[in-house]
Amino acid sequence: MDKKAILESLSSVQHPAKQDRSIVELGMVQSVDISADKVTVTLAFPKKRDPLTEYLVGAARAALIRDFGKDVEAEVKTVVTEAPKTAKRTLNLDQEQIKDIKHIIGIASGKGGVGKSTVAVNLACALARLGYRVGLADADVYGPSVPVMTATEGEQPEAVMNGEQELIVPLQKYGVEWMSIGYFAEKGQALIWRGPMACNALKQMILQVAWGPLDFLLVDMPPGTGDIHISLLQDIPMEGAVIVTTPQTVALADVEKGVNMFRNKSIDRPIFGLVENMAWFTPEEHPDEKYYIFGKNGGAEMAAELGVELLGQIPIVQSIRECGDSGEPAALGNGPDGLAFIQLAGRLAEKLG
Ligand SMILES: Nc1ncnc2c1ncn2[C@@H]1O[C@H](COP(=O)(O)OP(=O)(O)OP(=O)(O)O)[C@@H](O)[C@H]1O
Ligand SMILES: [Mg+2]
Repeated sequence: MDKKAILESLSSVQHPAKQDRSIVELGMVQSVDISADKVTVTLAFPKKRDPLTEYLVGAARAALIRDFGKDVEAEVKTVVTEAPKTAKRTLNLDQEQIKDIKHIIGIASGKGGVGKSTVAVNLACALARLGYRVGLADADVYGPSVPVMTATEGEQPEAVMNGEQELIVPLQKYGVEWMSIGYFAEKGQALIWRGPMACNALKQMILQVAWGPLDFLLVDMPPGTGDIHISLLQDIPMEGAVIVTTPQTVALADVEKGVNMFRNKSIDRPIFGLVENMAWFTPEEHPDEKYYIFGKNGGAEMAAELGVELLGQIPIVQSIRECGDSGEPAALGNGPDGLAFIQLAGRLAEKLG
């Protein structure tokens, strides 16, 4: 018996008010303590006096007794977690342009190439399809992907004057407002920014933009967890983050780095959840088949380990890459890939009220 086995057992406990998702998937399992003759599980509830508390505690205990009752005593405790802190929105003068944006959310990962930009672009389109007003700022100075992924390469955003200040007008496509540093570089020209310059360019691309009133502004963060990230988090009042990962266990250490960047004392922003990208492979010609080539349940285990919700799982489908390359995001369609993004968008919107 180990933590993994306990989490597997608890995965059978479904939350009746959350579309029957499991308490593990919902990030409610805050800790698991195992001693020689006792297992103690702590479940986290977001509000006091949740009417389902007793039911879920009972169901969790029953699952543990069913699976390990012969070996040990099982105890299930509860804690009430505070509501996520809303970002301190005391805006400086130079943050005037973002005052009508309800939620600014960073899309981050510890590691590069896990599909962060793919998730960000598709999540933006999916939120727009659900009727939200959405913008996306591509903050990847070193490898901006939004122009290609939305087929807006070579377009040049206009500038407008707002009193003394010049503002960049975001591009509009697929119902989303897009901004990327890629619009300011010649095609094929490598962007070579040194630290402080990159930070300033980025701040400008978020703060000096004529965003309309928005429900969500997603910020596609550059890969890694370096100075640029810290500087961005200090200067842009992001409310919290969504972390993108792939299911391999080797990725856990990287994900942890990504999560810790936001949980760091001086930053202290909530993680709204984990998105497991490339969760399984589905061949185009057999849309019902799932091949877990990177292992099964990696995302759920990672989420449980970090005490965050698994917000969504996105399969590897050829069309997702092709849509990324052609600039027509998969989330605009009604295939299984599109619906996976719509579902993710729905959960995030629900989470943020
Ligand atoms: N679910 C998926 N199915 C198929 N292909 C995918 C999927 N997710 C991402 N890809 C492909 O993988 C590649 C890398 O994705 P993407 O550029 O989104 O990663 P990233 O994390 O933003 O990378 P970087 O760290 O360089 O910014 C792209 O070619 C993309 O089309
Ligand atoms: Mg990217």
